[in-house]
Order: sequence, then C-alpha cells, then structure tokens
Amino acid sequence: MTSTDTTLREMPGDSGLPLVHHSWGFVSGSMATDRSRFDKYGPVSWMKALGRTWVSAAGPDAVGEVLTNRNRVFDSGPGWSFLIGPFFRRGLMLLDGAEHHTHRRIMQEAFTAARLAGYLEPMNRTITESLSRWPEAGMLAFYPTVKQLTLDIATDTFMGAEAGAEADRLNTAFVDAVRAGTAFVRFPVPGLRWSRGLAGRTLLENYLTPRIAEKRTGDGTDLFGALCHAQVEDESFTDTDIVNHMIFLLMAAHDTSTITLTSMAYYLARNPEWQDRCRDESLALGSEAVAYGDLDRLVALDLVMKESLRLVVPVPGVMRWASTDTELLGYRVPAGTHVAANLWGVHHFEEWWPDPERFDPGRFADDRREDKVHRHAFMPFGNGVHKCIGMYFGGMEIKATMHQLLQRYRFSVPDGYEMPMDWSSLPRPRDGLPVTLHRL
Ligand code: HEM
Repeated sequence: MTSTDTTLREMPGDSGLPLVHHSWGFVSGSMATDRSRFDKYGPVSWMKALGRTWVSAAGPDAVGEVLTNRNRVFDSGPGWSFLIGPFFRRGLMLLDGAEHHTHRRIMQEAFTAARLAGYLEPMNRTITESLSRWPEAGMLAFYPTVKQLTLDIATDTFMGAEAGAEADRLNTAFVDAVRAGTAFVRFPVPGLRWSRGLAGRTLLENYLTPRIAEKRTGDGTDLFGALCHAQVEDESFTDTDIVNHMIFLLMAAHDTSTITLTSMAYYLARNPEWQDRCRDESLALGSEAVAYGDLDRLVALDLVMKESLRLVVPVPGVMRWASTDTELLGYRVPAGTHVAANLWGVHHFEEWWPDPERFDPGRFADDRREDKVHRHAFMPFGNGVHKCIGMYFGGMEIKATMHQLLQRYRFSVPDGYEMPMDWSSLPRPRDGLPVTLHRL
C-alpha cells in the first residue's frame, strides 16, 4: 500500500510546543506513561520530538501491528539507531531482514535449554555470594543493591570474569551507554550524557576484544564463550560481531532484569500474602538454589513476575522506522517516519485490563488468563521477529535470585509507600526503593 492510496486517512496529531515540540515529554518518559494522547487522538497519531516527526502507536491493535510487521515495512535498526545506535551499533535488535535472521539463528545457539541449564549453576553461585554480602537486617536501598547483584551475574555468567573494580567500571560503562539514548543534547559535549555514552562503548570494546581469542579456544560455558562457539551450518560470528553482540546483550539483560527484580520486591513488600505464598513455594523445593528442572514449579513467583512486568514494563517503548510508504490501522505513514510503539499503554489501558493499576498476579492464573483478552495485550518481551531472545534467560535469572532472596529474608516497605518512578530511558525508582530486611 502506498501513501498515494486515496483510501487512507490523514493521521491526527500535533507538533507540540514551538521549537522544542514534544521533546521533553519524550526524553523524560512522561509521554510513554500517560494515556492522554490515546484519549485525544486514538491509537495512531503523529507528533514532533527531538527534531523528528514520529508516529505514536498506542493500544494493542496498533502496537501489535507494528511489532508483528506483516508487510516488513517497520525496520528496527533505523528505528532504534536514532536513540542508541552510536552506543549499541550492530547489536541484534539493530539489524533487519536477512542479516537479522542469520545473526539471530546463530545467536539462538547460545540460548538453547542446554546452554541455559549450563549458565544456571554459576549464576546460582554468584547469587549466593552476592546475597551473603547483604546486611542481616535493617534498611537496604534495593535497586542499587540488586543492580550490583545483576552486574555480578553479568560479569560471571556472561563474561566468565571476576567481580571487582573492573566490574564496577563495566557497570558504569553500561549505565552511561544506556542513559545516553535519551540525551537532550545529542552530540558529544564533555561531561554530558552523549559523550559519556560514547566513552562507555569504547571501554566495553577495549575490555572484550582482547579476550576473544582465549574464549574461542576455551570450553564456552559462559555466554561470551557460547557466542564465540555458536555456529549454524558453516556460519559463525566474526570477532567484531561478537563484540557488538556482547555489548548489546549486556545492556539488554542488565537493566531489564534489575528493574523487574526491583518491581517484584516492591509489590511483594506491599503484598505480604503473595510474599508468603512465593516463599512457601521456594521452601517446598527444599534446595537453597533452584535447579533448572524446578523453575516451572515456582508457579506463584511466575504470576508475580508477569504482573510486575505488566505494571512496570522494563522497555516502555519500542522504536521502528517506516522503510517505505505504508499504512497503520488505515492511516497514511510516509516512508522515513519514526514510529514509537508504546508498550506501557498496552499493559495499562482499562479497555483491556480490569482495574489496571491494581497488583493482582492471579489475573495470569489458568482460571482467569486476563492477558488472553487480546493477542497483543501482554508484550513485556515485544513480539514478532525481534521478540526478546533472552526472555527465558531473564526469567531464569529473576526466579533464581528471588528464590534465594525469599528464603533468606522477609522484606517490607512502610504502609502507604509508593515507589516513585523515573521513566527517562529504562524505568528505575528515584529513591532506590528503600526496604526493611528481616533475616529468616
Ligand atoms: C525482564 C527482562 C527482559 C525484558 C523485559 C526484555 C525486553 C525486551 C524487548 C521488549 C525486546 C524487543 C525490542 C524490540 O522489539 O525492538 C527485547 C529484545 C531483545 N532482548 Fe530482551 N528483555 C529482557 C531480558 C533480556 C536478556 C536477559 C537478554 C540476554 C541475555 C536479552 C536480550 C535481548 C536481545 C538480544 C533482543 C533483540 C532481539 C532481536 O532483535 O532479535 N533480553 N527484549
């Protein structure tokens, strides 16, 4: 379908304030977590932000159509590159078409069930060690502490490296690279986000590149090694591919798992009945660390994870770019338009979710399955060919961590406490989520 098709409607929308347009709402995340645009214009509208014209897709019909991308017109690479390209170039999510297909097939070799089971053992060890450094009782800033834990996992399970000062430098490098994506000043000025992001990328390249030769000859039990060994027919990754994929994977895994653990801790602290239920289930397994074959037995924890992913979706918006003139729900979309698909709204609009702000993990239970209301009502891991390749890895990391945490501690927040969120780049609590720990 082309833009000259006369059956297509003109899209509603507005450019926002003079000069800055909608840029502030875009970079602060306030636009991604607000339904007023959907109320005013419906599921598809245009706007201006960061010097570009964007199509905003909201609600499961529009977002589902963009992500499933049946006509293969909404490209991910140019969509995301505008925001994160300089920092995460040629990561899997930034590739399209045949090239993406080939790289994804090779990468899949690092995410088979056998590989995941192999990652779980060192991961469990790292979780035990990391938790042993937590205080016995008292106040703990949950978010930065669990971020350190997921960093320890990234260092060990991903790279097979030791935690320590080097790991701290790597952590700062990821954070700088991720936050650079929503920089207001989008060129390098020393000290500002963009420039710090570029420095972060260089640090990660300099860390990974000299270690590839050793990983290629090693036994490949960590993710870095698995990528070095991954092969489908006669295709495998070059050294440059491995560096690009590792940098992207570290980023894709780290903050998403951290915020999911944080939102789960928050909701479990506010809902002690669910906390007890998850703890009882973990204790019933009878092992400090969860075995790969037992992950599916953590049924209540799975419901809590899903509900937390719904309420605090780690990737609130997904970016695409129209490679040719096309349409979206009957609206004209010219070639070269950026498209922002809002995953937050998909999970929060009351048209699809009853009482959407209420924490109610039972809505995902077999006897309710409220997520089945629409094919695209629940998409924390996206959909279509770019659907998260690490969703089982992430779920395993999150459940393995919570399984140990729940057996060690009871945790609470004061009555009436609400976690204040910062939605600029990926979501995080502004106050670090202070919880009170009680050692069991
Ligand atoms: C709770 C945890 C996670 C969430 C919520 C999450 C979410 C997402 C989403 C929404 C996408 C799709 C983006 C798009 O369509 O543009 C995605 C893609 C991706 N994720 Fe995750 N992710 C998580 C954990 C992980 C982990 C642990 C890894 C790796 C170990 C990972 C690696 C990737 C990769 C490589 C892609 C790109 C896939 C492709 O383009 O083919 N993610 N993730």
